[in-house]
Amino acid sequence: MMRRASTTGLDVEPRVTETRAAEVDPFLTLGVETSCDETSVAVLRGETEILSNVVYSQVDLHARYGGVVPEVASRNHVVKLPYIVDEALARAGARTADISLVAATKGPGLVGPLLVGLCHAKGMAYALRVPFIGVNHLEGHLFAHRLQNPDLEPPFLGLVVSGGHTLLVDVARYGDYHVVGTTVDDAAGEAIDKIGKMIGIGYPAGAKMDELAMSGDPKAIPLPRPMEGAPSFDFSFSGLKTAVLYHLRKNPREKREDIAASVLASVVSVLTKKSLEATRRFHRRRLVVVGGVAANAHLRAELVAEGGRCGIEVHFPAISLCTDNAAMIAAAGAFRHRELGEVDALSVSPDPSLSL
Ligand code: KG4
Ligand code: ZN
Repeated sequence: MMRRASTTGLDVEPRVTETRAAEVDPFLTLGVETSCDETSVAVLRGETEILSNVVYSQVDLHARYGGVVPEVASRNHVVKLPYIVDEALARAGARTADISLVAATKGPGLVGPLLVGLCHAKGMAYALRVPFIGVNHLEGHLFAHRLQNPDLEPPFLGLVVSGGHTLLVDVARYGDYHVVGTTVDDAAGEAIDKIGKMIGIGYPAGAKMDELAMSGDPKAIPLPRPMEGAPSFDFSFSGLKTAVLYHLRKNPREKREDIAASVLASVVSVLTKKSLEATRRFHRRRLVVVGGVAANAHLRAELVAEGGRCGIEVHFPAISLCTDNAAMIAAAGAFRHRELGEVDALSVSPDPSLSL
């Protein structure tokens, strides 16, 4: 089963020299991600070389509802997944017979969408007679860093900040995680999306809020910086949403740019202070920021600047690896299978509230 991948997509293997053939890792992982509203399939060579990473976003389907409708998401994954698998294989120049391992997100996420991806992936593993591995989506986000910077190995402090999660995790080595803080209510991306809905900038609001904030005044609205000074590394973002709601009731004509800039100033300040403090407290020299909100330009700039001031290196994956994608799932699966010798039974079920 572990044959070398065709780089052409044709049945004829490309001619390679002896040396080159010896260098190419023949192990290909097919990764599947369907935990929310992205249908994504990737083909990874070895543990860090992305051959393809196809992401189909259902965002237009859900935009009119102002959030993801789980049943609509599930049904759309069912329709799109076979085509995305074909596209990922074609872009990788691989055939199903070249695949050595199938990895799919098993949680956390929406149960219906998880079930669709997991069943499809398990079916493929069964048909191809290759091992299957169910991946924790949060661990997947951390592996976006390994794809981006394979040489920057742990230990590091990780900040996973997305639409569903805000998590500080001490990573002693891949596979060995200690969660040191989490949100007690909304995730940072969730709060940004809800505030975006209030000011009518569509769903999800992160990228638009990022752009609007570029021309806004971050000091225009005095907003709270929840739990910034608290002794724990936990977060809370739902109060910020309420503060914006009350402010808008009194000031319905407030400029959207100023709201965006003020909201991001609060979110960025809290995330920056807490994650750098956690990095210091856990004696790490490196902070790794992953998840959809890690795409935020203001957060990236502030963390790099503040990190530089206190001697902490801050790393972010490329934007395409920050938001949900299957390459990070394939990377986590390949690591667990090859380095830790893990394999899952085909009876594995989705776990919507799986923790790290
Ligand atoms: O990681 P992700 O794709 O999905 C989850 O696992 O949740 O993250 C999606 C979240 C959304 O809340 C979206 O608004 C936010 O990431 N996001 C951003 C930006 N791009 C995406 N938030 C702030 N600034 C951005 N540029
Ligand atoms: Zn995610």
